[in-house]
Amino acid sequence: MPQTIAASGLTTGSAPFVEEARNRGDLYIRQAYELYSEENHEAWKRLYARMRPRWERYANGHFLAGLQALNLPADRVPRLSEVNLRLQPLTGFQAKPVSGYVPGFLFFDCLRRREFPTTITIRPVDRMDYLPEPDIFHDVAGHVPMHTEAAFADVLVRFGDCAHTAVERTSAIRDHAERTRRLTSIIRAMSRFFWFTVEFGLMRGPRGVCAYGSGLLSSYGELAHAIESDEVQRYPLQMEWVINQGAEIDRYQPLLFIIDSFDHLFELVGRLEQWMREGKLDNVAPGLPEISESDLRSFLEAA
Ligand SMILES: [Fe+2]
Repeated sequence: MPQTIAASGLTTGSAPFVEEARNRGDLYIRQAYELYSEENHEAWKRLYARMRPRWERYANGHFLAGLQALNLPADRVPRLSEVNLRLQPLTGFQAKPVSGYVPGFLFFDCLRRREFPTTITIRPVDRMDYLPEPDIFHDVAGHVPMHTEAAFADVLVRFGDCAHTAVERTSAIRDHAERTRRLTSIIRAMSRFFWFTVEFGLMRGPRGVCAYGSGLLSSYGELAHAIESDEVQRYPLQMEWVINQGAEIDRYQPLLFIIDSFDHLFELVGRLEQWMREGKLDNVAPGLPEISESDLRSFLEAA
């Protein structure tokens, strides 16, 4: 292997192994574990150590049970093969290494197959707090423990069903501009719903309101802020609000939505799909997130 690939490790923003895969157009890759540098393992160790007490305090019980079930290492980047050995028997889910952003339809379709596209790079030690793109700490420490929970795993699969329904509902529209417009609106609604639940969701529980969203569970500062701060508005999840609410990615979330349980969330995703079928997602409020060309194309090509 070329010297530079080994020397750079698998650090977010500088991981030649991943960049080369991306340049070749390879989305699914292997977790080249031998490439992690000492600094990469150190980053995981520090992130994990400082999150631990915050999880005990602010994470929902299913997440804590998931952490225990997965037995993630505290002192090194986990091997996905080891994580999957524990995860798969519980819910059928698997973490699947990817080289970067997975376009919308492909992402949801992976969930439908119980595969979770997982980033293998880790943030640099001098940027522990804020990273706009996901890294393995976000994906494996933030998301994967939730995938040990059967009801939550079923919710993710339902998102995959929704993506198929979106394709089905729009594929017969002859006028290309209208088809694109409607699809963009539906994808925006789905992305907002995913954002305010799977990424930033709060849940009522025996210990009060706790976090189950992975964006919160992988952020040292935002997790406490989401639960404790007076600056955050927290409301019971309302479908008509969530699908029309812009999602800002570059600041602590000022608005969060609370669910009662994962059965409740499952029911809500079912309603999302029902609304899609009824045309109620065809004209959601414009705004964030932007729907990229590759997201849109992934849905158009799935037809
Ligand atoms: Fe995420």
